[in-house]
Amino acid sequence: METRLRVLFSEKEIEQRVRELAEEINGFFDGEEVVVVAVLAGSILFASDLIKRLKMPVQLEFVRLSSYGDGDRSCGKVKPVDLTLPGLEGKNVLVVEDIVDSGLTAKFILDYVKLQHKAARVKFATLLDKACARKTDVPIDYRGFEVDEKFVVGYGMDYKGYYRNLPYIGYISQ
Ligand code: IMP
Ligand code: MG
Repeated sequence: METRLRVLFSEKEIEQRVRELAEEINGFFDGEEVVVVAVLAGSILFASDLIKRLKMPVQLEFVRLSSYGDGDRSCGKVKPVDLTLPGLEGKNVLVVEDIVDSGLTAKFILDYVKLQHKAARVKFATLLDKACARKTDVPIDYRGFEVDEKFVVGYGMDYKGYYRNLPYIGYISQ
């Protein structure tokens, strides 16, 4: 891939911010058990770095949703690819996302966990918040960084399947 990338958040900046978010989450749950539900595939690096810093007993579960298809435009509909979760009734749940863009994906999974699974307490962490693109309200409890309209890649996030492995977050510059 010949595309040039500009760094938006360095590996160090991300590490520091993830550490701060984990501290906030530790403070809130105060030792109570939590089921972390990570939204695949984009949140994989964020979720794995975050849970390493959580101090309460943690179970890790995954759901796979897709809304972006193959390009850089949301198709406006959330496609549940795999929603297999254990029973969450009465549990504390932390949903972990890479980025909230239109908000449709986050709303879908939060409603699913709250309404269908009847989790007791549901909190939502996203590494990035593209607030300017929001189409539906999403309650974000833990937010890493705000970003503008740019399409970002790296640290789990992809463009056409590539760049997820980058340790930093960048954007494509022409
Ligand atoms: P939403 O449903 O429009 O909020 O989009 C959410 C999903 O689209 C995120 O979980 C990402 O996987 C993907 N996405 C949104 N914006 C970007 C971006 O700038 N880069 C890479 N993926 C993105
Ligand atoms: Mg995602």
